[in-house]
Amino acid sequence: MASRFSKWRAAKASTAIRLRFKSQLVEKIPLFAGLSAKESQQIARLVNEIAVPAGTRLATAGEAGGALFAIIEGEAVVRTKPGRTSTLTAGDVFGEMSLIDGQPRSATVDATKPIRLLVLDQRDFWHVLEGAMPIVRKIMQTLCRRVREAEEGSSA
Ligand code: CMP
Repeated sequence: MASRFSKWRAAKASTAIRLRFKSQLVEKIPLFAGLSAKESQQIARLVNEIAVPAGTRLATAGEAGGALFAIIEGEAVVRTKPGRTSTLTAGDVFGEMSLIDGQPRSATVDATKPIRLLVLDQRDFWHVLEGAMPIVRKIMQTLCRRVREAEEGSSA
């Protein structure tokens, strides 16, 4: 029979393996790229990994937002209220807008293929940003890119 100590050691080892696995997922997301191994591991402790089927609604325009999502694999479509659509794939991040300004979700996001995501809760979002200027810069770049794309789309 396994002793309490060996069970504790096995549990600790499996937590360490899961953390290493999650750190590897974090490193695959461009938003988190360029961080030190220690910083990636800190983020890995905060994110949850989820997998949901195609057709799952991930965010609903007009509702309160509670998390930031990063796509590990799969695909989702963003539908904004004015009717603009945009496809998101592995490495893309969404859900940052309502966390930043506290306003409701600006768009509806649906999984169009089975999707695996890293989810960063609202309360950890600012904690992560406070510690890492490179992430703040990338979030700002993402926001600028989305405004530019929307502007280009509206003049077409
Ligand atoms: P949020 O408003 O929190 O929830 C919906 C998300 O869709 C939003 O954050 C952005 O991450 C994303 N989003 C909104 N507008 C666009 C757009 N024009 N192109 C791509 N993604 C968008």
